[in-house]
Amino acid sequence: MAIEPILRARDLWKSFGQGDLLTEVIRGISVSFQPGEFTAIVGPSGSGKSTLLYMLGALERPTGGSITIAGEEIADLGDVALARLRNRTLGFIFQFHFLLAEFSARENVAMPLVIHGGVPMADALARADALLARVELGDKLRSRPGQLSGGQAQRVAVARALIADPRIVFCDEPTGSLDTHSAEQVYRLLRDLNQERGQTIIVVTHERSFADRCDRIIRLVDGMIESDVWQK
Ligand SMILES: Nc1ncnc2c1ncn2[C@@H]1O[C@H](COP(=O)(O)OP(=O)(O)O)[C@@H](O)[C@H]1O
Ligand SMILES: [Mg+2]
Repeated sequence: MAIEPILRARDLWKSFGQGDLLTEVIRGISVSFQPGEFTAIVGPSGSGKSTLLYMLGALERPTGGSITIAGEEIADLGDVALARLRNRTLGFIFQFHFLLAEFSARENVAMPLVIHGGVPMADALARADALLARVELGDKLRSRPGQLSGGQAQRVAVARALIADPRIVFCDEPTGSLDTHSAEQVYRLLRDLNQERGQTIIVVTHERSFADRCDRIIRLVDGMIESDVWQK
């Protein structure tokens, strides 16, 4: 029996503007992802990678086509149901970290679990500490984002995106602003969790060394899939 994809997009279109200024950024993309796949999306700047990722992650609505996440057709969901799906099932990591400046690293990581998961603060903090230790931040638990290097802050953001054990993690250039060592740790953490928990991970990246170690590479050109290749 075939396994149901965790994420499926059918004939996705996205345009911005209208009239003479209308630009078709995504032009008829159909793609699906099986649970546990670790995929890179690559392609030239402006080819539509971020736009595609945000639509797949239900952060942005397509102008045409449909998306199913974990069996739910997202066009059918209202704002509340959509927010719930995002908070419980999906995780996001962006190029810049968006941590809350006035909270410590462990509080930033624990917060989604407390707010959306109903987990008591003490338990959430214990889980945050364990996750932060895995990215070599066990000695920075009480540091605020402003006291961390860019690489450290991004590792905190990765821990925060993963704390609630999302089924799909979407990353937009997660290592784009990092030094080699931090980039390696971010890759390692994502890969380890993917292998341990079977999380589905989709990463937009322009870094060869990252993409080459994903299971699958989708290449976008001009809003269309130019190639879609499984490695090894
Ligand atoms: N909100 C928006 N309004 C207008 N144009 C946009 C918007 N978002 C993206 N675009 C345009 O869509 C194209 C693809 O952008 P993007 O998805 O960010 O590409 P990539 O991530 O591959 O660099 C670009 O030409 C960009 O200018
Ligand atoms: Mg982009």
